Amino acid sequence: MVYNHHCRPDAPTRRLARQGVDALRRHFGTTADVAARAPGRLEVLGAHTDYNEGFVTAIAIERATVVVAARRPDRLVRAWSPWGDWRDYLAGVCAELAAEGCVPGGADVAIVGDVPVGGGVSSSAALEVACAVALSSLAGCTLGPERLALLCQRAENEYVGMRCGILDQFTSVFGRPERVMWLDCRTREHRLVPMAGMSARFVVCDTNRPRELVGSAYNERRAQCERAAQVLGVRALREIDSATLRARAGELDATLLRRARHVVSENERVQAGVAALERGDAVVLGELINASHLSLRDDYQVSCPELEAMRAAALDAPGCLGARLVGAGFGGCVMALVEEECVGEFVPQVESSYRQATGLEPSIFATGAADGAGIVATD
Ligand code: GLA
Repeated sequence: MVYNHHCRPDAPTRRLARQGVDALRRHFGTTADVAARAPGRLEVLGAHTDYNEGFVTAIAIERATVVVAARRPDRLVRAWSPWGDWRDYLAGVCAELAAEGCVPGGADVAIVGDVPVGGGVSSSAALEVACAVALSSLAGCTLGPERLALLCQRAENEYVGMRCGILDQFTSVFGRPERVMWLDCRTREHRLVPMAGMSARFVVCDTNRPRELVGSAYNERRAQCERAAQVLGVRALREIDSATLRARAGELDATLLRRARHVVSENERVQAGVAALERGDAVVLGELINASHLSLRDDYQVSCPELEAMRAAALDAPGCLGARLVGAGFGGCVMALVEEECVGEFVPQVESSYRQATGLEPSIFATGAADGAGIVATD
């Protein structure tokens, strides 16, 4: 099967696709053969659980990367993008496609999009997945959605050096409108949970504080989790529950205990969150989101002053049911769950409080759950 999920393009996607087609013509003088779109993601609950073989819940967001490509007769891949820092991702995807026996051949590529870059909403997975969908489609090869997500993860692990789990790429591929994806990162069993009757929206609040040392601090957290699992004699922390961890706390040093406590409690919050979603209970979901943040701040220690200032501003604003940092942490975005009718007031109030507290200009937007990656018509 060629990976050929076709997106119903909304207005921003159509605009991005046109921009990509123009860029291809302007920079390389070539005509587009294919365009692919892949969204960023928000993990609703389940931060830093994926590489512990645990559970996550996430949505694909209404912001995406669009890759437009034209076939070349040789083996050269040329690419243009308005951002820096994307070469390793594209090179990694090309190499991983080739390793899967899907040789993309030559292509001219334009990369455009509106996912905040480096903001914790996974602009990197959006880029990898959009490249992989476009290039595998050009090559006409047979890749199912799960293989596609896994090869993009390997591109990031091996070419970029970020030992990320599967959350981002999986959500970018499998996300669906008005659904929260629940994923077991060990078995990769997944389910799309309807956001039934929830009159609340997710609001992404970007601190615009560039994330620093995120790769090294992230890899360090991952190594600490692996050590904690080893000391406890399990393959991954996913096998430990809160009661067991409390009983065996003395076996871990203070840092490893903190890291394990976050992962174990976060896995339990994911499962409670799914039950809340199924009941349409936004209040309980908001409480779980708050508890997740406190655990990330105090036990996992991946927050920073700007994230705290943004979260305080969000919690003070009308209609906020809960707020937490998203993605790896160390900067980037806070996600707030906000009562639908309050979103209009919420956004300007958070903007002004955050600006006052930090002197930084935030970027804030509301999003629903969007469709996962797919091919977009270019005409
Ligand atoms: C980054 C990684 C993911 C995941 C999150 C934290 O986004 O790429 O694999 O670990 O951080 O949940």
